[in-house]
Amino acid sequence: MALVQINIENLRNIGQAQVQFGSGLNVIIGPNASGKTSLLEAISLACQGRSFRTPRIDQLVKHDAKTMLVVARLKIGNENQIIGLSREAKKTQVKINGERIAKTTELVGRVAVFVLTPESHELLDSGPKMRRQYLDWGVFHVEHRYLEIWQKYHRILRQRNSCLRRQLSRQEIQAWDGPMVEKAEQLHYYRQQYLSELAPILSKYGEQLIGVAPNFDYQPGWDESAGSLKDQLAAKLDNDMERGFSRLGPHRADIKIKVAGKQVQNVFSRGQQKLLICAMTLAQLKRLNQDCILLVDDLPAELDPEKRACLIEAMKETGAQVMVTATEPNLIDVSVWEGSKMFHVEHGSFQEVV
Ligand SMILES: Nc1ncnc2c1ncn2[C@@H]1O[C@H](COP(=O)(O)OP(=O)(O)OP(=O)(O)O)[C@@H](O)[C@H]1O
Ligand SMILES: [Mg+2]
Repeated sequence: MALVQINIENLRNIGQAQVQFGSGLNVIIGPNASGKTSLLEAISLACQGRSFRTPRIDQLVKHDAKTMLVVARLKIGNENQIIGLSREAKKTQVKINGERIAKTTELVGRVAVFVLTPESHELLDSGPKMRRQYLDWGVFHVEHRYLEIWQKYHRILRQRNSCLRRQLSRQEIQAWDGPMVEKAEQLHYYRQQYLSELAPILSKYGEQLIGVAPNFDYQPGWDESAGSLKDQLAAKLDNDMERGFSRLGPHRADIKIKVAGKQVQNVFSRGQQKLLICAMTLAQLKRLNQDCILLVDDLPAELDPEKRACLIEAMKETGAQVMVTATEPNLIDVSVWEGSKMFHVEHGSFQEVV
């Protein structure tokens, strides 16, 4: 599978553009504010129905324009698939091969798109939410029914929390424990399974890119050694009632990433941390073992040339189609990768460099 072409009308600073991608590495070079990230956003929008920069589609519509349109032509096996997404008067319309689909969310999961941006650093820097998202995104791609379980779990959790907030009786609160535990255990099972399969791939990329394989310690959101989640929910009910929300469950899960028993953030250099995030993303691509698109915004300029080359090589090995943006043309050697193309962008206009 590959994204063959994208046509864009009125997305951020891009008035009108057509870009024909190579099946391997695509490098998009341009000065600041030229439209590099906007092109990646357009890809993300067409393939997943959303931008990785904002949940608000209207922010993407070019100032003063009434309609935004993105059309992506994909080659899946021998078949062409055309996805068109338009936004007009606060309404989004999506068509696949000319047929309208009811919800934008139907696009999610059709094409596996992974994104690496400077903000991906939050995976290590910020709280567990980002690491849970990383985990859930990976599991969802290998097990599509995971999303439904996840949504059901969170619906039940909201109900239980609402009972806690409204200070309802113990009985009314505990009525949610059974259904909550059932979904929690399913989520836990899939997450655990996924991580156990991901671990050797993570180690391999850790070794390859950083020279060490950090330890990924999955914490399910409750203390497994202290008995079942059901018993713990009952034992901690007073605590939850006092606080007004549920403190145990998969919504509190985390992955502690350590080297030599210490949190990786306190040991690794900045460059190593960036490479670790790249390793984590590449491991997901590799685990998925199917055609994917990897969008890399602002390939870390602070990586030394050897590490950069090593990263490009590792990306190539995954078999994904990769779109990379950078401000400097000589950071990436496209000659190492068949099916590579380089584009130059200025003021929202793209030119292939030949
Ligand atoms: N809705 C919009 N309408 C018009 N222009 C916009 C809109 N949103 C953002 N812009 C502008 O689009 C331009 C391109 O932004 P983009 O983030 O794609 O640049 P970039 O090439 O990735 O730059 P950098 O190297 O700084 O990351 C910027 O000047 C930005 O201010
Ligand atoms: Mg940018």
